[in-house]
Amino acid sequence: MKKSNVAVEHRDTVALPWYEECEIAVRSHPLVMLVGKPGCGKSRFADWISRKHTGLAPVVTQGTPNMERYDFWGSTGLKDGATEFIDGRMVESLKSNRFMVIDDWMAIPPEVRGELLPLRASDTVVNPLSKEEIKLSASWRLLATTNPESARCRGNAAVARALLDGFVVCEIPDMTTDMIADLLHHNFPDASKAMVDAVMDEFGKFRRLLPGDRDSGDATTELSYRAAEQTLKLLLGGMRMSSAVKMAMIGKYILDEDLHRAAKLKADFAEAT
Ligand SMILES: Nc1ncnc2c1ncn2[C@@H]1O[C@H](COP(=O)(O)OP(=O)(O)O)[C@@H](O)[C@H]1O
Ligand SMILES: [Mg+2]
Repeated sequence: MKKSNVAVEHRDTVALPWYEECEIAVRSHPLVMLVGKPGCGKSRFADWISRKHTGLAPVVTQGTPNMERYDFWGSTGLKDGATEFIDGRMVESLKSNRFMVIDDWMAIPPEVRGELLPLRASDTVVNPLSKEEIKLSASWRLLATTNPESARCRGNAAVARALLDGFVVCEIPDMTTDMIADLLHHNFPDASKAMVDAVMDEFGKFRRLLPGDRDSGDATTELSYRAAEQTLKLLLGGMRMSSAVKMAMIGKYILDEDLHRAAKLKADFAEAT
């Protein structure tokens, strides 16, 4: 990819309170794991820090259980009628000195992840498939993200621990309600204060349906910033509040029958009063 495609100035990102320490982590260590629930701001931070430190967007890839070593390191393919080795995402990142961001790191098969870890130690790395020797820039970084549940429950604990050992781990807190309101104002400067307040009112009702101590850390039991943002977008698109809440907040609970019923009851009750 040509430099001009990725050399975008910082997007308009608000530095959240945890950014400062995570930035030190990224400055100080090549492998950083961002752990937090969906919607807490992991991907946005990874993008922000990459642009800030390299002037370039990161190479981003979504981790999946089907991933193979070829996805990262490359494979032989046809290019302009001739066979040649086509670099994978990791090599692309290393050679262009862009940060590598791997979302849902824990979803990737352990043996594929394991092959990426020599990156932590040396200043050169050998592509295990092409045998090419690649120089590692001192400023190159791998940022991996995961949510807490998949960090805990996937596969063999001993292997998982060994694979985590090279990372420093940044635990990202959930966004507070105030933070969410601030981000809404920031990201939607055209929305009136009354409209954002109304969204936050609804968000307060539906964000968490379980009492605090029963928070399992499970994404299905709690709404994220995204639900508030989507509600606001629907309102700005002309939808009435009750429908917007249904689509952007209550709908998120369909994964859990009991919570979904509870959310709908709450909405009916609110509408009746
Ligand atoms: N610092 C920020 N400034 C502005 N918007 C943000 C910020 N952090 C997160 N957001 C917004 O919140 C939403 C969720 O953030 P994201 O980074 O995608 O979460 P995660 O990767 O943890 O699931 C996105 O719409 C994102 O644009
Ligand atoms: Mg993300």
